[in-house]
Amino acid sequence: MIVLGIETSCDETSAAVVKNGRQVLSNIIASQVDLHAPFGGVVPEIAARRHIECIGYIADEALSQSGVSLSDIDAYAVANGPGLAGALLVGLNYAKGLAFVNKKPLVGVHHIEGHVCANYLCEECVGDLEPPFLSLVVSGGHTLLLAVEDYDTYRVVGSTRDDAAGEAFDKVARVLGLPYPGGPEIDKIAREGSPTVVFPRAKIDGFDFSFSGLKTAVMQHIAREEKKEEKINIPDVAASFQKAVVDVLTERAISACENEGYKKIALAGGVACNVALRSTMQAACEEKNLQLFMPKPIYCTDNAAMIACRGYYRLLAGASDGLDLNAFPGRMV
Ligand code: KG4
Ligand code: ZN
Repeated sequence: MIVLGIETSCDETSAAVVKNGRQVLSNIIASQVDLHAPFGGVVPEIAARRHIECIGYIADEALSQSGVSLSDIDAYAVANGPGLAGALLVGLNYAKGLAFVNKKPLVGVHHIEGHVCANYLCEECVGDLEPPFLSLVVSGGHTLLLAVEDYDTYRVVGSTRDDAAGEAFDKVARVLGLPYPGGPEIDKIAREGSPTVVFPRAKIDGFDFSFSGLKTAVMQHIAREEKKEEKINIPDVAASFQKAVVDVLTERAISACENEGYKKIALAGGVACNVALRSTMQAACEEKNLQLFMPKPIYCTDNAAMIACRGYYRLLAGASDGLDLNAFPGRMV
């Protein structure tokens, strides 16, 4: 089954062609980061208007790079939430148009479930991850521990009580005077420093997270240093903040996995690109004899291949949606 996926939930316009759920034939992504950078964050209306300008070209390019023709596409999968309403509607309507004209099934996809499915993707091979497993989803809008019981059953084991992990990276980067988006910048600059400042780790019962106190602690540290007229060591502060986030994510993911009795952990979402998180998780999983799966960075951030993959498994389970399918910006797992 060949599925064309569409993703426009935030600031990436993406289309992809995926064979049998796992083999990526093409995955085209147009990032809007330069458009939003001057505002220090994503401006919803600018995002939606840019998707309108790009989506036709991106879908054409995905088809042409895949080597298959429109008549070979068996179904259309589209992210219909969570995300920005105006942005989601662009991709949703484009996918509806394609499904209607070509008389093929349409399937709506939960964006976060799509992130998890990035772990199934590969280019030439057949990826070998199969449920059940524990997934740590860390993106700009979500921090979740999900028990992936089977291809269609996702159960929330833990989530953030306030800021998402990516949001914390972006806000702390701004405090440190680093450009938007801050996550990759902190990742880079932290490699030049050492985690010399011990920032607090929120202690919450169960498997939930909280990052807003950590953000405040970084701001208070900077204010204190400025008052003493000390030069702030940005790489050290970045490394210290990053270690605090990575330590908490790793500890919670491992204990949630053990609590569920699973042997596999899969990372997902933009923050899963983070080099320190990847290496810390790798070491912790080896120590605990757990198998760790991490998508290539290009499949961690928003992309349509993961949407096509999730759509494939919904279709396989007999699901499909009508032309009245709507966008659900605040959709929960
Ligand atoms: O999954 P994603 O592309 O979009 C959402 O669905 O939110 O995640 C974007 C988030 C941003 O907050 C960005 O700063 C963060 O992922 N991010 C990173 C890294 N690359 C992207 N955070 C830490 N380290 C990175 N290398
Ligand atoms: Zn995302």
